[in-house]
Amino acid sequence: MTEIVKIDPLNPDQSTIKYAAKFIIDGKLVAFPTETVYGLGADTFNSKAIRKIFEVKGRPIDNPLIVHVSDISQLNRVAYDVPEKAIKLIERFWPGPLTIIFKRRNEVPPEVSAYLPTVAVRMPAHPIALALIRESKTPIAAPSANVSSRPSPTTAEHVIKDLYGKIDLIIDGGETLYGVESTILNIQLDTPKLLRPGAIPLEEIENVIGRVDVSEAALAEKPYQLVAEAPGMKYRHYAPKAPMFLVEGELDRIVKKIVELAREDMLKGLKVGVLATKETYELYPESFNIIVLGSRSEPYTIAHNLFKSLRLMDELNVDKIYAEGLPMKGILFAVQNRLRKASGHNIIRV
Ligand code: TXA
Ligand code: MG
Repeated sequence: MTEIVKIDPLNPDQSTIKYAAKFIIDGKLVAFPTETVYGLGADTFNSKAIRKIFEVKGRPIDNPLIVHVSDISQLNRVAYDVPEKAIKLIERFWPGPLTIIFKRRNEVPPEVSAYLPTVAVRMPAHPIALALIRESKTPIAAPSANVSSRPSPTTAEHVIKDLYGKIDLIIDGGETLYGVESTILNIQLDTPKLLRPGAIPLEEIENVIGRVDVSEAALAEKPYQLVAEAPGMKYRHYAPKAPMFLVEGELDRIVKKIVELAREDMLKGLKVGVLATKETYELYPESFNIIVLGSRSEPYTIAHNLFKSLRLMDELNVDKIYAEGLPMKGILFAVQNRLRKASGHNIIRV
């Protein structure tokens, strides 16, 4: 049975937070909003609850979870040997959507980290998430609250659709702010490495700690080898039901190509969806199912709308989806990474 409670993110009701925290303390699974996407949380130190997370999501057991903390003492309960560069990043970006890879303490059940010697940690900036962790008095391990391979949830309705009946509690705190997940950084290397582009732009991280390498998984140009650096990044992800094609290149050529391909599909009787932008949507025939992500000059709007638009394509029951490529800059690096993965690396270059 799944209970649903509503909490106002701007003024979280303390008694409802207490009620939800009791679920975490009792080893139950709670979906909650963060500033990025909804998470599916459990007590980090309860390995039985952690295994349940993998089970209900259908998540491969070699894909580790992120541990969410509400203060630095909780970080020190799960990680050790925090490097100088991490302290700089924490001062600048926490609470916020930056996940850092640390050395894992033995007290953390290995299932949390898929038996890696490391642990991924972040301090979320969302008032409900922070209050829930604080009140539970334990770090909360949480992946995104979707069924594995589906687009990440940015509303409680998305969580209900994927996980109702499988988890204990869903906290409805409205739509999330960023709409893409946290940036993941490995600082256990001489030159830190970006494992997953996310809500905090790479450029801003480099402003604080200097050069950062970018992993192949972050570029997501092709499917990766079996041993990926961010294990989760090797799976097909964020995928809408219909096959999706991502067209990359110069913008007017992108539009031309999509029009050409979609026309051919429609002649075959297929229903076509297009993920377009404010600058381009008028260039497509009205018979296409067009969803506008936002203006190319407002990248945060595009990120905010990404996952719900992928889910909307499912509801429109399209047979094929075409998406316009975006520049790999700022938060759009994250959007472009998710689009490449959602397309199963069906990338058309024009
Ligand atoms: O914004 C977010 O990060 C959201 C919210 C809920 O906080 N969470 C999220 O979790 O996106 P999830 O499980 O969907 O993605 C976790 C990613 C996976 O790609 C996983 O491989 C990586 O974090 N990860 C976790 N622990 C790791 C570790 N020790 N080393 C390398 N990558 C790790
Ligand atoms: Mg996820």
